[in-house]
Amino acid sequence: MISFTGKTVLITGASGGIGREVARQMALAGANVALCDLSTQALDTLAHELAAAPGGTSTHTVDVADAQACRQLAQTVARHHGGIDYLVHSAGIYPEQRVEDMSDEQWRKLMSINLDGTFYMCRSVIPHLTDHSAIVTLSSLAGHRGSLGHAHYSASKGAVSSLSKSLALELAPRTRVNIVAPGIIATSMAEPLMRQKGQALLDNTPMKRFGTAAEVASVIAFLCSDLASFVTGETLHVNGGLYIV
Ligand SMILES: NC(=O)c1ccc[n+]([C@@H]2O[C@H](COP(=O)([O-])OP(=O)(O)OC[C@H]3O[C@@H](n4cnc5c(N)ncnc54)[C@H](O)[C@@H]3O)[C@@H](O)[C@H]2O)c1
Repeated sequence: MISFTGKTVLITGASGGIGREVARQMALAGANVALCDLSTQALDTLAHELAAAPGGTSTHTVDVADAQACRQLAQTVARHHGGIDYLVHSAGIYPEQRVEDMSDEQWRKLMSINLDGTFYMCRSVIPHLTDHSAIVTLSSLAGHRGSLGHAHYSASKGAVSSLSKSLALELAPRTRVNIVAPGIIATSMAEPLMRQKGQALLDNTPMKRFGTAAEVASVIAFLCSDLASFVTGETLHVNGGLYIV
């Protein structure tokens, strides 16, 4: 239904569960996909899988916690593809640590990737964004209701959400900025949580199952597309009813 022919999407965390699905769905819909993550090998494997898709593919081994690397990434992608139509910023980490035992380093590392990384990537793409462009950031259920044993993650995702809303104000009308807040999605990130608390979480989820990466990716693709042309500053929760705002 959605065509991204001639459009370029830069996806961070592209080798992860959700990022990979976004890449697959948008590439199949015709987008040029610029894939960013930490492992060159994982990116090459993904690019190989997407080789038959109609759009082009490029891979970029970049740490989103590195401001200068983010700037270079945006410049390279814009030069290579002639601008950036969409940024999907999916890179993130989700370590478990209670606050009383959390070191400064653990706090800083999480903030540098989840929050600084979002700021660096959004700031870097701004000069290269085309007309009718869009940014989608990844927040979380945790950013809205807190998360036992993951306070740093929860704080970072709350901040990603408010950063994104402010960007929606700054970048309109040229660029829309929206937030996707997944609940429990069956990717490697959520595996430990599903293992520890799976049944209790399912009991509290009206849809009685975990979400799939594809179900998050399709919402992200919708928010990038012209189907969402009057939607900005919005948070779309994808959680099977686990948290209803
Ligand atoms: N899976 C869930 O249940 C869930 C729930 C809520 C929010 N989210 C959010 O969705 C996003 C994607 O999550 P996922 O489930 O695909 O997780 P994932 O762990 O499968 O993927 C995350 C990707 O980010 C990459 N990454 C980590 N640090 C990076 C860095 N410094 N620079 C570049 N890339 C880096 C990882 O290599 C990985 O490929 C994350 O922001 C996450 O917080 C996920």
